[in-house]
Amino acid sequence: MAVLHQFARRLERLGALDSVAAPVARAVGRVVRPRPVRNLLSGTNLGHPLHPVLTDLPIGAWTMSVLLDTVGGRSAEPAADLLVAAGIATAVPTAATGLNDWSDTYGEARRVGLVHAGANVTALTLYVASLLARRAGNRRFGKALGMVGFGALLAGGYLGGHLAYVKAVNVNHTAFEDHPAEWTPVIADSELREGEHRRVLAADTPVLLCREAGDVLALGSTCSHMGGPLDEGKIDDGCVTCPWHGSTFALADGHIVRGPATTPQPSYETRVRDGQIEVRARQ
Ligand code: FES
Repeated sequence: MAVLHQFARRLERLGALDSVAAPVARAVGRVVRPRPVRNLLSGTNLGHPLHPVLTDLPIGAWTMSVLLDTVGGRSAEPAADLLVAAGIATAVPTAATGLNDWSDTYGEARRVGLVHAGANVTALTLYVASLLARRAGNRRFGKALGMVGFGALLAGGYLGGHLAYVKAVNVNHTAFEDHPAEWTPVIADSELREGEHRRVLAADTPVLLCREAGDVLALGSTCSHMGGPLDEGKIDDGCVTCPWHGSTFALADGHIVRGPATTPQPSYETRVRDGQIEVRARQ
């Protein structure tokens, strides 16, 4: 396994991949920009990234097809073919969600993601060829193509795991923050005028503080999507928009107005005591 890890680390440093990854990611980013498309492919409405949910479908179908091809015998051939076809059908929406997520990555994660996508496209192509061979009556060749496709699938899956668990792509970047449950002073009331916003610290956790129409509103300042600085984002119409990928959160309670974020932003209650603005995590 250390070999695979080193391979993934090498890919991270392979700057030559950027010449392909950068323009393709930009093109994908343009296609997924409309809000309904973005929210759907990201899993914003689901409250969970959609891509890892969908990956189970082609991986499961193709894994079972390999099992039936290997030990199922003649009676299992129709079921194996059906699983190959099901894997192909479900791989297409899975790829669309993956491309959407990948278009938000940069640098090392984007390089690994490009190879992850390449391995999965290779697997899909081989399974399409496998299905055609089976339908043409060349089962032995179809099985062989499926086996090679399964190898590509495993390679792609490993790199997908590397992206999530090593590069922290599409995990909730506020998960390990400490949100104070007790009232915590963060700034003098006089330091936040109407229409202004500030980044402050509450128990070492960055908080975005805004004063709008006389109310003091507070959200976690680290974007849940990939850790962008919300205090550098655009504040408009009761919302803050992340400068990195455009996730938009309601200042009142942190709910998501626009993806790609899938986890609402931590939200705080506020009050003024002894000339200090105090915050505490909203229950
Ligand atoms: S970091 Fe991606 S939208 Fe904020």
